[in-house]
Amino acid sequence: MRASGTQGYGEAAAVLTEEYEKLDFARVHRDTLHLFPQSPCRVLDIGAGTGRDAAALSRLGHRVTAVEPTAELRSFGERAHADCAIAWLDDGLPDLPRLTALNLEYDLILLTAVWMHLDATERARAMPLVAARVAPGGLVVMSLRHGPVPPGRRMFEVTGDETAGLAAACGLRLVHRGARDDMRGRAGVHWTYLGFARPA
Ligand SMILES: C[S@@+](CC[C@H](N)C(=O)[O-])C[C@H]1O[C@@H](n2cnc3c(N)ncnc32)[C@H](O)[C@@H]1O
Repeated sequence: MRASGTQGYGEAAAVLTEEYEKLDFARVHRDTLHLFPQSPCRVLDIGAGTGRDAAALSRLGHRVTAVEPTAELRSFGERAHADCAIAWLDDGLPDLPRLTALNLEYDLILLTAVWMHLDATERARAMPLVAARVAPGGLVVMSLRHGPVPPGRRMFEVTGDETAGLAAACGLRLVHRGARDDMRGRAGVHWTYLGFARPA
């Protein structure tokens, strides 16, 4: 079954792969990069797309798992970043059944441009499952897209306040909150970046 929120991605994969891969990892994450663990650690990228960030983090020496439910993006990523030891997983929010079954913890979890694909019920279901994967002392970094929804996609308006509230209820402390313009310059699109830490 197709994961909620993936609508429109497979069809547009040829264009999207190019757009995602053009973005620079360090620019995408410039606001929170100083919070990322410096020594090699366990990283989980949920909604990894083509694996741009997974590959960059793997090259920095981290052990990376990339969760991506859209087959077209995942298989592009597997091929394009075959030189990186990324563990790819076909799984999706809100329930992440395959990831949950692995029962592992991660020091850094990325949810970059993904969370707004879930409706309110799904977001409330997903947060405890994501939080359960965070190792003590670990970090979760999320970006939330605001603005017009591209045709054919499933997206919801999600606030930083709601997300911080859900995270706090799961024991995750807000350590970064910032607003950003759209890196790709799309009219009316802007972003909230959030960082959460689990106490050590
Ligand atoms: C805007 S793209 C961002 C991709 C990547 N994180 C990046 O920054 O380039 C959103 C990604 O979320 C994935 N996605 C959509 N719904 C999802 C869900 N329910 N669970 C996990 N990933 C999902 C899509 O397949 C797509 O790869």
